[in-house]
Amino acid sequence: MIYLDNGATSFPKPPQVGTAIMAALAAPASPGRSGHAPAMAAGRTIHRARKAIAKLFGIKDNGRICFGPNVSWALNVAIDGLGLQRGDHVLSGSLEHNSTARPLARLAVEKGVLWEAVPAEDGAMRPNAFKARLRPETRLVVLNHASNVSGALAPAREIKEAIGSVPLLLDTAQTAGSVPLDDAGSWVDLLAFTGHKGLLGPTGTGGLWVGPGINLRPLAVGGSGSHSESLEHPDFLPDSLEAGTANTHGLAGLAAGVEYVLSTTPAAIREHEMRLTGHFLGGLEGLPGLSLQGPGLGRPDRVATVSLNLKGWSSSDLAAALERDYGILTRAGLHCAPMTHKSLGTFPGGSVRFSFGPFNTLEEILTAVKALKALAPRKGR
Ligand SMILES: Cc1ncc(COP(=O)(O)O)c(C=O)c1O
Repeated sequence: MIYLDNGATSFPKPPQVGTAIMAALAAPASPGRSGHAPAMAAGRTIHRARKAIAKLFGIKDNGRICFGPNVSWALNVAIDGLGLQRGDHVLSGSLEHNSTARPLARLAVEKGVLWEAVPAEDGAMRPNAFKARLRPETRLVVLNHASNVSGALAPAREIKEAIGSVPLLLDTAQTAGSVPLDDAGSWVDLLAFTGHKGLLGPTGTGGLWVGPGINLRPLAVGGSGSHSESLEHPDFLPDSLEAGTANTHGLAGLAAGVEYVLSTTPAAIREHEMRLTGHFLGGLEGLPGLSLQGPGLGRPDRVATVSLNLKGWSSSDLAAALERDYGILTRAGLHCAPMTHKSLGTFPGGSVRFSFGPFNTLEEILTAVKALKALAPRKGR
């Protein structure tokens, strides 16, 4: 098996992740509830995860990091929690995933919020295009840091500079762990992350860092282990956004995954993945019938995700042939991002996505190039 679907979820995980999960499973664990020793130890496990995330993103106040099941949860908490009303205006990129597009579309329909997607220029998001669309009523800018389809990396910091005091909600699903973000806590307002992709943790983990001065109405209220005497859910972070027992086992794995990323460093992971991407793009140059989406060979404004089509092939047939004939696992279709495919002109057929991770080897990438070269002429004549 050659696993080139790290954009969906990373594989393999470092062995420390499984070890940490098993150790957490072996102890009774209800963090922040009972006062006995194993419960206190579970609380420390979660603190370890908060500390690792804080270090990764340069966050000073780790008590504002709230854990939940994934980045979709985090994005919903942020988008819904601001309490936007009729007439409020929200900007997003046009390379968004459904996990921001759907909550924004629902706000538009149900609350009358004006949602405007900033068009990509030549497949890229540009700071001036955001600046030009700001209005006095603009309450939020939502940005996918890197497209999960084309791999285009948005100039997020420059976009934040262009939008000034309007809060920026950054979806780091495709960048956390593989693009250095160790100063993000100083310029992002709301940072959403998922645990199971570049952070190398298990599924069922993710979270939201809420910048200072931002108040969010929780999506869910209930048991928090704090202020139990009151019928009112606590209004302080992280408890306000963390109703219910935490996923201690998952967060133990997430802490181990992020610690692995920190010790390897996101810069080194990025260098490795971009080297593989360069070999992939270089190897495919000039292949008849190939159409590539996203920044081409040598462009630094990308991550290690490449989407493509081959003439004569549907994306699903091509992905199936790659798996059947070569054991290469990719992802075909719309990648939960129809907006992006519309923007790139690949809707509704989609494309085949190759996404590389820290444990892929050059040999695997060259095998994928060879496979595409062999498959292209089968239908492309
Ligand atoms: C850019 C982007 N945002 C959000 C998500 C949703 O991630 P999750 O399913 O972990 O919530 C993904 C996952 O594919 C993604 O690529």
